[in-house]
Amino acid sequence: MPLPILVVNGPNLNMLGAREPSIYGKISLPEIEERLQLKAKALGVEVECFQSNEEGVLVTRLQEAVSNASGVIINAGAYTHTSVAILDALSLLTQPIIEVHLSNIYRRESFRHKSYVSMIARGIICGFGADGYVMALEAMKGLQTA
Ligand code: DQA
Repeated sequence: MPLPILVVNGPNLNMLGAREPSIYGKISLPEIEERLQLKAKALGVEVECFQSNEEGVLVTRLQEAVSNASGVIINAGAYTHTSVAILDALSLLTQPIIEVHLSNIYRRESFRHKSYVSMIARGIICGFGADGYVMALEAMKGLQTA
């Protein structure tokens, strides 16, 4: 049984739908996760979704991914721009890492232009809203079958 692709969402992403919909869209995180499960089925891969608002909890889940995930898709939310701890946890992984953001962080405030996750990610998809997660899953499948 191949290991699942882990989809990690960081702080405040549990509030999607209600949170600044003009920036992040109206779709909720459970709806995004449902779309991912449907896409996973179509692609013939397993997806496991995880969200936390806490940096240490995210770090622990990423550490576990070393032995129980075949790849990681991550939207670290605001921790993208601040967390060396998440960068260090991602650095433990030899599996592909794809960074996702709903918004185009490079069109926004300058503090969002720095991404620690990008320093380790294989690629980044941003600015396509919830579709970005589905694109990332397709890209991950492509990397795994290449
Ligand atoms: C975000 C962009 C971050 O700057 C922000 O802090 C988020 C969401 C995005 O998906 O566009 O929480 O990662």
